[in-house]
Amino acid sequence: MCILESERLILRPPRPTDIQSMTVWLSDFDVAKMTSRVPHPYSEGDAEAFLALGEAHCFVIQRKSDGLFMGATGLHAEDDGYEFGYWLGKPFWGFGYATEAAHRLVRHAFEALGQNTVHAGWFYDNPASGRVLAKLGARHNGSAMRDCRARGRPVLCHDMLLTRTDFLRKQAA
Ligand SMILES: CC(C)(COP(=O)(O)OP(=O)(O)OC[C@H]1O[C@@H](n2cnc3c(N)ncnc32)[C@H](O)[C@@H]1OP(=O)(O)O)[C@@H](O)C(=O)NCCC(=O)NCCS
Repeated sequence: MCILESERLILRPPRPTDIQSMTVWLSDFDVAKMTSRVPHPYSEGDAEAFLALGEAHCFVIQRKSDGLFMGATGLHAEDDGYEFGYWLGKPFWGFGYATEAAHRLVRHAFEALGQNTVHAGWFYDNPASGRVLAKLGARHNGSAMRDCRARGRPVLCHDMLLTRTDFLRKQAA
């Protein structure tokens, strides 16, 4: 079992006891609408179905100080590499947690999985996520319409590419 740690966070694999918290936070349309795959409305059955997929590089974002489940982050394998993503329940927005979690996840992709690049997309109306990616060192790599399940329609999505070199350079800056 792979567990990652950062200053304030534990990133650990999801477990059945997470279903209730996951459902509470992902039932919020403001969270679901910024992701491509989360349906709305969201039920415990949706959380169960997601866990049953057993995604290899999916991590719960847990706060060290009180053990709270705050959200999730993960790497999704594609033909030519990995796309990463993240979400947090609304009460946890604005504290730098997404940047910290994504930073640790991306380090894992570069160091443990041997990747040289990873990529991520953000919907045009989600500047907070665009900022998270910019803080990691990611660069714009094109834009295209992408299906958003919660909204039930395609939404303009900006793809961002993060290279190992840019990631390290950003850390050193
Ligand atoms: C996007 C999301 C993950 C951000 O989480 P977070 O923990 O609040 O992010 P951080 O605090 O690490 O960083 C957010 C940055 O965006 C900035 N920001 C927040 N709202 C913003 C806005 N409306 N416009 C521009 N920048 C904004 C913050 O100031 C911060 O930048 P800073 O550190 O330079 O001040 C969170 O809002 C979320 O889970 N949203 C719903 C799901 C989602 O969007 N997932 C990502 C899909 S691509």
